[in-house]
Amino acid sequence: AQSHARTEAIRARKGGEPIVCLTAYTYPIARLLEPHVDLLLVGDSVAMVLHGHENTLGATMDMMILHGQAVMRGVRNACVVIDMPAGSYEESPEQALASARRIFEETHCHAVKLEGGADMADRIAAIVGAGIPLMGHIGLQPQSVEKEGGYKIKGRTDESVARLLDDARAVEQAGAFSLVIEGTLEPVAAQITRELAIPTIGIGASAACDGQILVIDDAVGLTVDRVPKFVKEYADLRNEVAKAAMSYAAEVRARAFPTADHVFRKQEPKG
Ligand code: KIV
Ligand code: NA
Repeated sequence: AQSHARTEAIRARKGGEPIVCLTAYTYPIARLLEPHVDLLLVGDSVAMVLHGHENTLGATMDMMILHGQAVMRGVRNACVVIDMPAGSYEESPEQALASARRIFEETHCHAVKLEGGADMADRIAAIVGAGIPLMGHIGLQPQSVEKEGGYKIKGRTDESVARLLDDARAVEQAGAFSLVIEGTLEPVAAQITRELAIPTIGIGASAACDGQILVIDDAVGLTVDRVPKFVKEYADLRNEVAKAAMSYAAEVRARAFPTADHVFRKQEPKG
């Protein structure tokens, strides 16, 4: 069995220095991010970001495991969490545990994540009870996009706030080591953070959360479709990739690439 040291270290940071999280889906990105972050999430956003699906409902168990294995090969110290895809845990605690086990055993990741509050408490308890650490995810739940008819920010009404608090407490009670709060009014995310003993990780939530997460392609400006309001782009890789492709195309067409530096001749050493 894997050690729970990494998830326990995250749990222990409640109220302390903010926990830095990003998504990662591939080996090179895991290698590049790992020195700078505490936690990498192999999010089911991979279905949209890397595979071009319309929403996260396109993610599958095989997709999550394949990307999880790639990320794990690039990580030495970070805590790696893998999303449970839609359809892999909603049916019953038994289904949820079987899916979590498969992800955990086939990737050697440190934890799994699923979306839901009080309605998923028995699934969470089954997974944690079997010794698999779990991160919760409440507020805007992208896997519910079809059920809800779009992406709706949470916490706008008293009823919604009461439900969010209830859901947060249920996830904590069920044994989660941390909780993602997505797309939730700022004061409500701050209140949930104050009321829980486990760290909250915000996205479109509050600077008061115990940590923050962004989708890596959003953070580096590589997202080609709509970029949500809560995203900050820290680089402009769309432009860098387009510029590189344009220069390469021009040089190939002009026979300016390859040059003598990039071809092999008999008298030169191998390289
Ligand atoms: O799938 C994902 O990328 C996520 C994060 C945005 C929290 O669930
Ligand atoms: Na997700």
